[in-house]
Parts: sequence; structure tokens; C-alpha cells
Amino acid sequence: MSALANAVREDRLWQRHADMAKLGATPRGGVNRQALSPEDAAARNQLAAWARARGFAISTDAIGNLFVRREGSDPAARPVLSGSHMDSQPTGGRFDGMYGVLAAFEALEALEDAGVRTRRPVVAVAWTNEEGSRFQPGAMGSAVFAGHYGLDDMLAARDWKGVKLADALAETLGAAPAPMRAGKPGFALDYYVEAHIEQGPRLENAGTTIGVVTGIQGSRRYIVETDGEEAHAGTTPRAARKDAFAAATRIAAAMYEATTDADDTLRFTIGRVEVHPGSPNTVPGKATFTIDMRHPQDAVLEAHEKILRDIVASRAAPCSAKIERVTAVAPTDFDPRIIDLVRDTAGGLGLSHMDMPSGAGHDAMHIAKLCPAGMIFVPCERGISHNEIENATPADLAAGTRVLVEVLAELANR
Ligand code: GLV
Ligand code: MN
Ligand code: MN
Repeated sequence: MSALANAVREDRLWQRHADMAKLGATPRGGVNRQALSPEDAAARNQLAAWARARGFAISTDAIGNLFVRREGSDPAARPVLSGSHMDSQPTGGRFDGMYGVLAAFEALEALEDAGVRTRRPVVAVAWTNEEGSRFQPGAMGSAVFAGHYGLDDMLAARDWKGVKLADALAETLGAAPAPMRAGKPGFALDYYVEAHIEQGPRLENAGTTIGVVTGIQGSRRYIVETDGEEAHAGTTPRAARKDAFAAATRIAAAMYEATTDADDTLRFTIGRVEVHPGSPNTVPGKATFTIDMRHPQDAVLEAHEKILRDIVASRAAPCSAKIERVTAVAPTDFDPRIIDLVRDTAGGLGLSHMDMPSGAGHDAMHIAKLCPAGMIFVPCERGISHNEIENATPADLAAGTRVLVEVLAELANR
């Protein structure tokens, strides 16, 4: 193993995961560290403290992305970026997102410990609100950085309790201050590489340590709203009811059926349902639910969006219903040069590896539009993710980080 790969310290990386897991810890061993919450602020402070202790410069931008920079030798050279996110699902695990941030930070420390000078700066980043569970849409910080979503639109987003993102962001940055970068989010960069747990079972089933990620499937999110009429649960005959939840269930059942494909490739999820007014003895007057739909081919998503719209139009009566598309992210193909570099680096380190697409979304899908980008996956236990019992081994996390640091060093000297 090279001196640089050897400088990745498995124990330090594992301890940092344990330290971060205390911030928003849940009783079942996971984390609830939703975007721009006090727990998110605590994680930002922790990362900033580690960065300062190593003499790395930190900065943030107007959407709250947090950057940790190790300088290069050429002041004119554009940086190489690596990172992921520190926010979690409400019942999230300790590794989704956090691994990519801590792997990038460990890479900076390994470069430092091995005394490796790079021509370009290497920057670790924690993107704001990747999960999109509290504030929609997800992968927000990276999308604003890339210019795909407007900053002002995102600052106006509200969570399910009505809290405005701009207010939550101001509170978070007040609690976790960092020097603010001038201007709009975004700066010139030449390469981006993100490490992440696989969040699926393929690596573990194959007994393989490194996933060489070739791309990310496309995804779309929607909100469906049905409108009926509130009425007394005990007295109102069926014919007189306009039950918004009954309409929502008719629509949902038809959608599940229409999205059940023979080869089990299309992913369709209703993850949040709200019924108004939410009283046991009032017929619901309004219901809303979210849809998350994914497929590797955009044309398949497009065709199914039309089917979903037809279902909403045809199944709501006697209620009315509408469907609104919240986001559409086209499938991502990573740059062949980065794919090859990750594969060759894993091979050079003697690590088993396989090419694979990503089923989950990642910040890399937005940054890939700015510069050559790629991802490195490591296995997670039984493929379980978006779950408090999500787990990974210290050795696999370190192996992925060894690949990462060598890839970053190579790119930073180009
Ligand atoms: C990210 O967590 C995703 O939903 O894929
Ligand atoms: Mn993630
Ligand atoms: Mn996630």
C-alpha cells in the first residue's frame, strides 16, 4: 500500500463516525439529524472544530454548504472537491451521507499526515439538505451550488410545520458560524468524487469491497392532493360523502398497480400521507401524499408520469384531485475517466471491486453537470439504509477512504 493510503487511519475514521452519531442519536442506534435542525448545527460545529485543529480553512455559502479546504501549491489551480451530507432521514442511520463527509475529511488528514503536497487545493464539503425529508427538494445545497435550483426559491421553501428554510438556515448558521463566501453559491472546480455506503445489498452479496459507481438513476418527486368535503362520520350516508382519503387510497392503489413492472426496475414510493382535519369522527376533507419515483431511463419516468396524471384525473370523483411535480432529476452518467481512475485505484490497492449504478440519489448527480465526477461505494450490512440499524464495518469504510485519497491526490496533481 502507498504511504498515502496507509495514512488513512481506520480507528480515527471510525471514532469520528461514533462522535457524529451522538448528535441526534436515536434509541435504536441511528440518528435523527434533519437538515438545518439543532443537531445539524452541532454536526457542523464538530466538523469545523476538527478542521480548525488541523489548520484547514472553513467557509460556508448562502445555502449553508460547509467547505473545509486544504491548500495546494498552485494558487491559480482550481480545487478538487469531495464530500456528501450530514443531514439524515428522521429515522436515519449513522453512515448515509456522514461517511462521505468523514471520508473526505480523513483524506485531507491523510494527505497532511503523509506530508503530500498537491498542486490543487483539496476541499471537503458537507452539502446542505441532501435528504429532502424536512425541506423539499433534496440534494438542495449541491443543486443550488450547481445553479440547477434558484437560491431564492429554496430559501422560501417551508417544512411540514411551516418553518421557512431561510429562518432555519439563519438559526443554524447562527449556532454554527463559519466565514461566509461572497456572492452566490458556486465556484469553479475541476473534479468531484463522493464516497458513500451502497445503501443496497449488491456489494455484500458479492463479497466485494468497492463499488465503482457508473451513474445514478433518474428520479422524480410529486405531491398529490385530493379535495373533498368534511362531514359527520356517524350520520353522512355513503352517497353524500366526498371522502378525500378514500379518493387518495383509490388513486394510490391504481398507482401501485401501474408502477409494478415485470423486471422490478421502476421504484415507486408513497412516503408521507396527511389527512385533514385528522379527526377520527370527521370525514376527511383533504388528503395529500408524496410520490418518489425512480428509474434508470428518463423515457420510462416520462411515460409513467403521464399514467400517474391520468390516474389522478380519473379516480378522484366525487372529490377533485391534482398532482404537482416537485423535482425531476435526469439519470446521471459519471465521467468515464473518473470511473476508470476509481476502478484502477481500487485494483492497485488490491481491493475487490465491481462496476455498479446507484439506486439512491446523491449530491454527485448535480455536481456531475459542472465537472468530471464519480462515486465510490462501500458495503453496508444487509443493504439496509434509511433505517436506524444501518451499519458498515470500520475496515470497509477505511478501504473506501484509501481509494478516495489516492484518487483525490491523483486528480489534485493533474
Ligand atoms: C437520498 O437519500 C435518496 O433519496 O436517494
Ligand atoms: Mn446519502
Ligand atoms: Mn439518504
